Amino acid sequence: MTIEDRAARLRVLEKEASACISCRLNETRTTVVFGDGNADADLMFIGEGPGQHEDEQGVPFVGRSGQLLSTLLERVGLSRPEVYIANVVKCRPPGNRDPRRDEIDACKGYLAEQIKLIDPAAVVTLGNFSTKLLLKTEVGITRMRGQAYPWWRRHVVPTFHPAAALRNGPRVIEEMVADLQLAVQVIEQRTGASGQVSQPEQIGLFP
Ligand code: URA
Repeated sequence: MTIEDRAARLRVLEKEASACISCRLNETRTTVVFGDGNADADLMFIGEGPGQHEDEQGVPFVGRSGQLLSTLLERVGLSRPEVYIANVVKCRPPGNRDPRRDEIDACKGYLAEQIKLIDPAAVVTLGNFSTKLLLKTEVGITRMRGQAYPWWRRHVVPTFHPAAALRNGPRVIEEMVADLQLAVQVIEQRTGASGQVSQPEQIGLFP
């Protein structure tokens, strides 16, 4: 599929998501926050779910967490337009509560399709929700971070959620920078990985 085809399919999926009523979050959302960035990105970020500013503007990571994420990207020589950013759930949980299991299950098809279409070399999972969903683990982010995990022809690099860094300060920020540097290394080392497919993606990323 060409980049134009993939970008077009993403737009169709976004339109579909914008009318989604698959879970209760549709009753309280202002906007569906589908995702933002380069449809051909080597690096994709997955957060938890939209907050108030994201819900108002329809764009992920535009609040304080988003500002920190942009700063962290700059620290490793990247910029926001180069990457793609999405969330586990596309609608804001009321009062910024945690997304519930059935809400994540109702939404995960969109994320799986986004990952397949964008086909990044590395996926950085921001915090527990996206890390646990992709890597099917119950191990917490503090123990998971610091490593790249092979996952569906690419790598998942877990790191803290920027909100945790805003709460906990410089030590967490420096660990996030180290994780992003690892993701950049993973991308630089990716050579012909698509020739080594061992599992067909059609069966779904989150069966
Ligand atoms: N936190 C998230 O997990 N996602 C956003 O889009 C904003 C804040």
